[in-house]
Amino acid sequence: MWILTLLIVILIISAYAFITRNNNYWKQKKVPFEKPTFFFGNYKPVFSGSKHFGLLYSHFYDKFKNAAYVGLYRLWTPDILIRDPELIRNVLVKDFQSFANNDFDLDPKVDPIFASNIFSQTGEVWKKNRAAWTASMTSNKIRNAFEKINERCNVMIDHIKKQIKEKPNEALETKDLSLNFFTDAVVSSVLGLEVNSFVEKDNPYKKVAGSFFAPSFWFGLLTMTFIISPTLAKFLKIRFVPKHIENELVKMARKVYESRKTTGFHKNNSFDSILLHNQSKDNYSPTDLDIAGLIFGFLLDGTETSSGVAGFMLHFIAANPDVQKKLRDEVDQAAEANGGKLDYDTIHSLSYLDMIFSETLRLYPPALTVQRLCTKPYVLPPSDPKGQPFEVPLGMTVIIPIYSLHMDPEHFPEPEKFDPERFNDENKSKIKKFTYLPFGEGPRICIGARFAFNQTKICIANLIKNFEIRLDPKMEGKTLVIDPNFLLVKAVGGLWVTFHNRVEA
Ligand code: HEM
Repeated sequence: MWILTLLIVILIISAYAFITRNNNYWKQKKVPFEKPTFFFGNYKPVFSGSKHFGLLYSHFYDKFKNAAYVGLYRLWTPDILIRDPELIRNVLVKDFQSFANNDFDLDPKVDPIFASNIFSQTGEVWKKNRAAWTASMTSNKIRNAFEKINERCNVMIDHIKKQIKEKPNEALETKDLSLNFFTDAVVSSVLGLEVNSFVEKDNPYKKVAGSFFAPSFWFGLLTMTFIISPTLAKFLKIRFVPKHIENELVKMARKVYESRKTTGFHKNNSFDSILLHNQSKDNYSPTDLDIAGLIFGFLLDGTETSSGVAGFMLHFIAANPDVQKKLRDEVDQAAEANGGKLDYDTIHSLSYLDMIFSETLRLYPPALTVQRLCTKPYVLPPSDPKGQPFEVPLGMTVIIPIYSLHMDPEHFPEPEKFDPERFNDENKSKIKKFTYLPFGEGPRICIGARFAFNQTKICIANLIKNFEIRLDPKMEGKTLVIDPNFLLVKAVGGLWVTFHNRVEA
């Protein structure tokens, strides 16, 4: 019996020694740091589901105002949060070779879909895929998608008109509304298929996006494990894309391939262009899983991010009647000058709409952080005058706190205030470089920014042309809280507005 007790004691002491072995790491390196708690390091609020990791970083960002960077403990592993915009530039752009990979470590056998996503790819594989994606997002291809996106926008407008007739004053949740539209827009303009998410609420495309992101404690815990410890996630064989979603995606892949047998591949379609680009190299022939991975990429990147932004834009437009009036005047004048039509060029000439888009992305960037792995040892200058240079070791995670920078009053006075004028021609040029990063920066910068601009502008300009948008009474005076169980950004309880025909307003 005493041998067993001794073994248990030895085990507990060894586990404790292992978990706390790095607790003096930052002190020894003379880097300002946040004291860790046992086991969780600095991430306890994320694991308990009480705080989004992006907001947790803001807490440390604000606390260490005089530091260029801050040492943290991700469970019991040290990682580093960069505060200084100049150092952020070095990490993302100038010294990219030392920070070339995102912080993901996936086993393709466990999670083939996410492992084939460009976001988690590295080295030559990433470079080749990046070239294919870049070629798929040219102005011509974005312009080519316009008609189909516009058609889906008309379906959304008809749906809202019907709702106004049948259930006037019934509130709609802006994120859900936008997700329906962006799902239909991507399925139509990119995959070349057709779906109406306003009627077929349980269609597989929306199900894929919806179930992947549906906030729940367990899903939150799983995805946070990926964010906080990719190595632990790999060890536990946690999948980012659950098996049932993978099966749905493979079915979609076959459907897309079948449809191309009749329509052929179009080099001016973004999705086809990636497949054609890859096929033209190295005799590559994509498998069902490869195509499923690409569909996942478009559904994930093309719907979730844009619908989040459009959802917040509609909220701000409804909450600020002066902004809404100014935008409607701009849209009406542009349409009038073009025979009443909002075509591609007209929509892209709307500068106030641009400003609202940019300000919404500042307040609620879908990705609150980007995180890079150190791929080549790199020396940072001292974090503060009392410190010393710090050599970032291979494999250390470096966090760029996008949201914290956007909410720093030094960079954006009265950061909580929604003020599109920050992005007018005069003020925009005064924004300090590398303090506004909704699309990231450097060689890994978002490839789909123009695609997102395009579909979001079509959506908002047409809604504003057709309807008066008001805040639902239950939203009056409500403070928006970011959902801690959601990987991207979403307001707890949703964002509710009512739509009204303009003649009746
Ligand atoms: C408003 C909407 C969007 C926002 C705010 C956004 C934001 C981002 C951010 C922050 C990154 C990481 C950048 C970095 O690591 O420096 C990223 C990467 C990426 N985005 Fe977007 N995105 C949006 C829409 C889209 C769309 C519509 C697509 C494609 C249809 C897309 C495709 C991608 C891809 C492929 C990457 C990975 C790039 C790489 O690792 O090389 N995004 N996005």
